[in-house]
Amino acid sequence: MISQKMADRVNLQINREMYSAYLYLAMGAQMTEAGYTGVGKWLTVQYHEEMFHAMKFAKYLEDQSATVKYAKIDEPKFKATTIKDLFQEVYEHEKFVTASIREMVELARAEKDYATEGLLAWYIDEQVEEEKNDLEILQAIDLLGNSAQGLFMLNIELGKRDAGVTLDFTKI
Ligand code: FEO
Repeated sequence: MISQKMADRVNLQINREMYSAYLYLAMGAQMTEAGYTGVGKWLTVQYHEEMFHAMKFAKYLEDQSATVKYAKIDEPKFKATTIKDLFQEVYEHEKFVTASIREMVELARAEKDYATEGLLAWYIDEQVEEEKNDLEILQAIDLLGNSAQGLFMLNIELGKRDAGVTLDFTKI
């Protein structure tokens, strides 16, 4: 049985994952509007990943007979207008998420909550992957000289990201 304190903390994380999803959705819309449809797609796929992270936590609470609480999601806020600045903000946001997951591990350990600690191991690995992906994109931007031609190529490359779900909303 999960403690109320841990259930509250998981619910907070569900909100943070959903905020992440909302943030990437908003970033994706801005990039698509600017003509970078590949970058927009990459961010939209990331939106789906974040929703998966949120729902995986929700399922865990259900399995533990704890209450899932869907709190208000804040309006997504970001300053970036260029691709490089945008991925820098994505990377900074992911570092915040990593710190948040690590904080949960600390709580799980303090409570000897081995089940939640086991679940969080998956998220720790996922954060390593996410930070790596963001850093690789930032490195690619630098290697391509942050040039218009380089960003054009990067846009095509990022647009190849597999969504796993349909992103074609013209179909019913
Ligand atoms: Fe769910 Fe990108 O961390």
